[in-house]
Amino acid sequence: MKKIAIFASGTGSNAMKIIEHLGNQKIAVEYLVLSNKKDALVLEKAQKLAIQTLFFNRTDFYETNKILNILISYQPDLLVLAGFLWLVPANLVKHFPNKIINIHPALLPKYGGKGMFGMNVHQTVFEAKERESGMTIHYVNEKYDEGNVIFQAKCSLEAYDTAEDIAHKVLKLEHEYFPVFLPKTFFYVLLLGYLLFVCLLLANRL
Ligand code: GRF
Repeated sequence: MKKIAIFASGTGSNAMKIIEHLGNQKIAVEYLVLSNKKDALVLEKAQKLAIQTLFFNRTDFYETNKILNILISYQPDLLVLAGFLWLVPANLVKHFPNKIINIHPALLPKYGGKGMFGMNVHQTVFEAKERESGMTIHYVNEKYDEGNVIFQAKCSLEAYDTAEDIAHKVLKLEHEYFPVFLPKTFFYVLLLGYLLFVCLLLANRL
């Protein structure tokens, strides 16, 4: 049984697609859905599926080890940010190296960073008259949208596409690729852990 902690603060459409897809694939996963918004739709949707949820505030997240300690005892195989806008604090990033992934609605490294979320991203892409956009799955580090890219999917944009059209195309890509890609990250996490172990072993021998 794998365990996934999902951080989300929006409608949770990506979170639900993940849960639905892994369920259809008969991959046994237990979830914990965490949100910094008490009334986030994602919490309601998760509760309807009898999934454990947790609301936390800024103090819990940034000034205490509350969330870190909860996650340490939960022991997730993966932490997934799916529409979560707060910067992940260093204590979490350090404790779960290469285990936290985020989905971003643009082709990073372009259109990422502080303030680049939701429609802001698509409006900026629209104003730049880009001929393509897409989604990026990347590891999370202490900076907004700067962790290593793991996967990207692109869509072409037409001159007549509005920012809303771009948002629609990108979300469609996210729903199509994120859930399918996710099981592969279990493998990457295992591989990275193994490589780290081998490096430490060799370092001790030298
Ligand atoms: C997605 O576009 C995702 O890329 C971004 O936030 C949005 C979340 O949408 N990080 P939803 O809550 O999954 O519907």
